[in-house]
Amino acid sequence: MAENYDKMFPWSKRIQNRSEHNFFLILFKECKVKNVLDCACGTGYHIVMFSKLGIDVVGSDISGSTLKVAKKNLNREKIKAELFQSSWQELPKKITEMFDAVVCVGSSLPLLSNDKEIEKSLRGMYSTLSRSGILIIAQRNIDRMLRERPATSLTEPSPNNFLLYINKYHPDKITLNIFYINAENEDIKGSFYKRDLSLITKKKLEKILRKVGIKKYKIYGEYEFSRFFPIKSDSLIVVIEKL
Ligand SMILES: C[S@@+](CC[C@H](N)C(=O)[O-])C[C@H]1O[C@@H](n2cnc3c(N)ncnc32)[C@H](O)[C@@H]1O
Repeated sequence: MAENYDKMFPWSKRIQNRSEHNFFLILFKECKVKNVLDCACGTGYHIVMFSKLGIDVVGSDISGSTLKVAKKNLNREKIKAELFQSSWQELPKKITEMFDAVVCVGSSLPLLSNDKEIEKSLRGMYSTLSRSGILIIAQRNIDRMLRERPATSLTEPSPNNFLLYINKYHPDKITLNIFYINAENEDIKGSFYKRDLSLITKKKLEKILRKVGIKKYKIYGEYEFSRFFPIKSDSLIVVIEKL
């Protein structure tokens, strides 16, 4: 997906979501964040956002091909940030510094397939935080998806680029069948991707947080710091503080 990711989710469109930008601006200022690890950095969108806030950023991701795209994007934006390849579980072995903030956003955590992996991954992320550091997890509101069970969606993220989702609901996961269609030229091209989302509802996540021993956290429903409503909110955003 790395080669098409920024066409499927164009930065020009993402940048319009000022509430996400303002959320991090306010939070990082309030928590006096000086350095951040984006541990699901993908193609580097948030690395650029945080660097422009004047914060030192390091990016990591499990996917080497995605990191290559991130490197190109950072060069284009003239941003210097260290990038390294790591799963969330491996982070404690791979990092050489502790971070005031670790972020895992863009519905990355539900890509793990079971609770044990989620638990180990959260431990990995938490252990890279300095004292009083914050860990931010942001994902789709799975509670709402399970209630509404949207079967399809079709969007045009940029002119002549289309994204069709066909969702299949299973007892333990939601399979997203993602068709990306590029119709910019006469010769229409398409790619197909399949992604399974673990059913990380608010209740499930809180259960896993307790297992990991995480006690202090706040949950929001949108990037406006609004309350989380299972049937209404777009997102599930958790801000964890290391004690
Ligand atoms: C949906 S993308 C989101 C990327 C980015 N945060 C964004 O908002 O554009 C999820 C990212 O998580 C990474 N990822 C998935 N499983 C991972 C794991 N176990 N450890 C580290 N990264 C992982 C993927 O390679 C991918 O780049």
